[in-house]
Amino acid sequence: MQIIQMRQQPSPAPSPTVGLRVLRAWLQSGSPLGPLQVMADETGYLFQIPLPGFNPYVVFGPQANRAVLVTQREKLLWRNTDPVTDLLRRGVLVVDGSEHDYYRKLMEPALHPARLPDYAEMMVAQAKRVSDRWQEGEAVDLLVESRKIALLIIFQALFSEDIGEDLPYLWQPILKAIQFISPGAWILWRRIPRPSFTHPLRRLDAYLYSLIARRRAGEPRPDMLQALIDAGLSDEVIRDQMLTMLIAGHDTSTALLAWVFVLLGRHRQVMAELQAEIARDGKSPLLDAVIKEALRLYPPIHIGNRRVAEPLELEEGTIPAGARLFYSIYLTQRDRRIWEAAEEFRPQRFLGGRQTPPFAYVPFGGGPRACIGAAFGQLEARLVLTYLLQHFTFEPVQLEHIYPHMGATLEPHPGVWMRIRRR
Ligand code: HEM
Repeated sequence: MQIIQMRQQPSPAPSPTVGLRVLRAWLQSGSPLGPLQVMADETGYLFQIPLPGFNPYVVFGPQANRAVLVTQREKLLWRNTDPVTDLLRRGVLVVDGSEHDYYRKLMEPALHPARLPDYAEMMVAQAKRVSDRWQEGEAVDLLVESRKIALLIIFQALFSEDIGEDLPYLWQPILKAIQFISPGAWILWRRIPRPSFTHPLRRLDAYLYSLIARRRAGEPRPDMLQALIDAGLSDEVIRDQMLTMLIAGHDTSTALLAWVFVLLGRHRQVMAELQAEIARDGKSPLLDAVIKEALRLYPPIHIGNRRVAEPLELEEGTIPAGARLFYSIYLTQRDRRIWEAAEEFRPQRFLGGRQTPPFAYVPFGGGPRACIGAAFGQLEARLVLTYLLQHFTFEPVQLEHIYPHMGATLEPHPGVWMRIRRR
């Protein structure tokens, strides 16, 4: 793979062996993250991936992040042409301008930090409900179990729906929706036929439309679905927001929970300290630091996706209008120029109120379009993990072969198998 050098200042040209190193990194890391790191090391904060028909610019680092998220964000569009927009249509994640601001305002109250205490008890109850089914000494896949918990939580919090009984029915359509928006052959062949998605995606839509119809006919509830209905939006636009929230609000939490288990499984001493701290004090500064460090090493949303509307001027060069642009959260948060022992799991780096430089730590993005569910997601992770670590011990079954898979989020693949015992 060739790298296009963007610097206007004289700088070292990519070495002729970079193609080989990219290939080796791909094979070793099992995902495109290895090659991205090689390209970043080779060229600095701006490079281009020159695949035929798909050649996004990639930027990372505090300066570029600030430009993309704040100072030059007016030059960028969130709406792109890809399966994400095909699926989410007019969802708040993929529209721009006043339409975006309008939906976002409608949905913010349900996720406002002042509302969060209302959800706390329910979040713990869902963790209990799922883990009550675990058998003593059984090995469970914490990627799957985390997804169950996160799905129960998001439906209950935002749509006041207990989907416990429907979960088996919804499981496959939701996984198909996630697969639909994950990187795949469509990157090289945009309109590749994808017939296997038609039926499950229709089922998911039908389910969401049935929730909307039931609510319109029934009692109002103080939740996000109600806010959308009361604003007079059409069923179609409400479906778009519900699907956006459902995917963005659970796949991310699932990945975060699963990565925490991977990291704790690989660092048993930290897990022991954590369990002792939770048993002693009920809450745990170390747990907050572990969550932050997991988000640094394995940011569930590892890139932000944009379309350049007007030329974007960065220190390293100008990105032309019309280009696709990724800002890489993953590369930023592993930048050795910023982070000491960047590749290592060191939750202590977040203890004692230590500050990170602005825009060097961006697991929830930044600026006016930062993650709307950031506080919700962090509370959820803290409560679910506290409950599970209080009630169970987790013994890794096999964690050596886990690698970060680039799906809709960065997920530990092929799964996170751990043997559980009640404490
Ligand atoms: C660990 C959990 C989460 C992580 C790491 C995460 C990460 C992110 C990131 C990085 C962005 C910005 C992407 C960009 O700049 O292109 C974002 C946006 C967004 N997130 Fe989250 N998220 C999490 C949880 C949630 C939850 C729980 C919800 C909903 C309840 C949610 C809903 C959204 C939405 C709707 C947007 C788009 C906001 C807009 O464009 O105005 N996320 N998230």
